[in-house]
Amino acid sequence: MKDSNIICQLFDIDFPIIQGGMIWVSGGKLAAACSNAGILGLIGAGSMSVDILRAHILKAQLLIDKNKDKYNDKNSIPEIPRVGVNIPLLYSQAKEQIEVALSLGIKIFFTSAGSPKTYTTYLKDRGAKVVHVTSTPELAIKCQDAGVDAVVAEGFEAGGHNGRDEITTMVLIPQVVKAVKIPVIAAGGIVNGDSIAAAFCLGAKGVQMGSRFIATKESSAHQNFKDMILNSKSDSTMLALKKLVPVRLLKNSFYNKVKELEDRCADKEELEKLLGKGRAKLGMLDGNVNEGELEVGQGCALIDDLPSVKELVQQLKEDYTKTLRCEYP
Ligand SMILES: Cc1cc2nc3c(=O)[nH]c(=O)nc-3n(C[C@H](O)[C@H](O)[C@H](O)COP(=O)(O)O)c2cc1C
Repeated sequence: MKDSNIICQLFDIDFPIIQGGMIWVSGGKLAAACSNAGILGLIGAGSMSVDILRAHILKAQLLIDKNKDKYNDKNSIPEIPRVGVNIPLLYSQAKEQIEVALSLGIKIFFTSAGSPKTYTTYLKDRGAKVVHVTSTPELAIKCQDAGVDAVVAEGFEAGGHNGRDEITTMVLIPQVVKAVKIPVIAAGGIVNGDSIAAAFCLGAKGVQMGSRFIATKESSAHQNFKDMILNSKSDSTMLALKKLVPVRLLKNSFYNKVKELEDRCADKEELEKLLGKGRAKLGMLDGNVNEGELEVGQGCALIDDLPSVKELVQQLKEDYTKTLRCEYP
């Protein structure tokens, strides 16, 4: 697949899987593990100050197998292959984050939650590969016009913040493939070899997976959050907070309070007051699974183990190959 797949060629990876950038969950350790497993790992800058982002990039550099001997050799420069940074453009520090990542040798940027026009040319002029996240074919065309190398088309099933139009992955991918000439990376509900194969059948050239990577040994999610994912069922998540920014959440006590407000048509201000500050960190990093915000996709119902990234990638490749050969159990 490496020689024939455009996403593998774009990022110099062995198999076209991208570990999605995720606030509070995807730091340097997870991204380096993905790089070492031959796929693309993204550091999720959305929850990081500029200094924390710098620390995570340096950590990834340290953990990349290729660099193991280089730290004792003053003449060798550590590399950062197959590691990119996800920059949600809605935060004020996006430009500073971009500068720090460029200065540390990052050459792959996935941007989201903003206009693809803002930084694409700037990044391309500095030799970077740029991918923007879209949830509609219309925005995918704007991404193409802005000059990105590929788009992530993310459907309604996905964990984290979600498009307002609620288009499912199954319906979105062929529409985006039809609308643009650049490669399409499918995201939303992809958690195993079967769903990777399905995404390729719909015309995607690669997949971006988020939720599946939360439940790995190397993710920085709290163990309580990982356990909630392992015990989740098909009805465990809902799209919530649509009056603010729609986000798919695991149902817990916090979600129930949101639902109560939404059921009585509470306004934006009331919802903002309930949300307060730091809910996502409280749930996903600190492990308060009752009162914290737990972002995960519908595919969580199919996640029932906690492998290392290496084990997971191996399993995904094997299952994908079996699916293609119709070797069902
Ligand atoms: C906990 C969590 C945090 C996320 N944070 C971000 C983010 O900061 N920026 C972004 O572009 N996407 C974010 N996403 C979306 C993922 O990068 C990915 O596209 C999505 O998880 C794919 O759907 P899946 O969860 O069904 O695999 C997040 C997803 C999750 C589950």
